[in-house]
Amino acid sequence: MPLTTVVKIGGSTLGSEDTTLSDLVAMQRAGERPVVVHGGGAMITDWLRRLEIPSQFVDGLRSTNADAINVVVGVLRGVVNTQLVGEIGALGGRAVGLCGVDSGLVTAERYDDRLGFVGRITGVNTELLLSLLDSGVIPVIAPIGLEAPSQPLNINADTVAGEVARALRADSLVFLTDVEGLLDAQGALVPELNQARATALRTSGVLGGGMIPKVEACFRAAEAGVAASMADGTVPGMLRRVASGERVGTRIVA
Ligand SMILES: Nc1ncnc2c1ncn2[C@@H]1O[C@H](COP(=O)(O)OP(=O)(O)OP(=O)(O)O)[C@@H](O)[C@H]1O
Ligand SMILES: [Mg+2]
Repeated sequence: MPLTTVVKIGGSTLGSEDTTLSDLVAMQRAGERPVVVHGGGAMITDWLRRLEIPSQFVDGLRSTNADAINVVVGVLRGVVNTQLVGEIGALGGRAVGLCGVDSGLVTAERYDDRLGFVGRITGVNTELLLSLLDSGVIPVIAPIGLEAPSQPLNINADTVAGEVARALRADSLVFLTDVEGLLDAQGALVPELNQARATALRTSGVLGGGMIPKVEACFRAAEAGVAASMADGTVPGMLRRVASGERVGTRIVA
């Protein structure tokens, strides 16, 4: 069976001079089944500011009101997703853009009044993804969930990537971000991370911010047998190195 790899492309690495998209096209050519989930937090912040819609963070999550959810959907599903699909096509690959609303791919529900239109994932329907993968297409997923019957919700992209990898029983899950991997209190790379070490780093405040949802998603996926890791997506060739099993970045271990 060809390898299925879920790749989370951080908004933090979008637009940098990396080779992630050409690596994805090379994987597709080699008969593998890559799936992309992307972020875009910085661009959402920029558009909310331009449109003068106030945004605030509660426990690291963006509180999303009725105006903000329209901007989130517009930026992620519109601008970022379309750009990625276009660039993959320009490199000779075949990709289709979608979000969790499409065909009920990612179902979700609101869970905290302070957060507004932010979703907690209730299910992943892999049917559409599997048919795209069977057709040799790279699905490129914007992290927006569907609250029945038709409300889009903002969901952290790391969480979506972890749940999609888990539902697909992917071979691997790779988080491409703007740091080498998880760093310890001295700023040194943690090459292998188990649950005990993650808890200790989190308690001491070393593991924080955008790394929290990534590490949680890694362990959720790892529970389902997915090989999960985090690496620096701004380094040329990084995706292929991680996908080929090279010991680079931070790998989750049992
Ligand atoms: N212990 C840690 N080791 C490494 N990075 C950490 C740590 N704690 C917090 N961080 C922060 O997490 C950031 C990566 O998460 P961030 O959410 O900013 O990026 P991303 O998820 O790749 O992009 P996006 O959220 O736009 O999809 C790093 O740039 C770093 O500032
Ligand atoms: Mg992030």
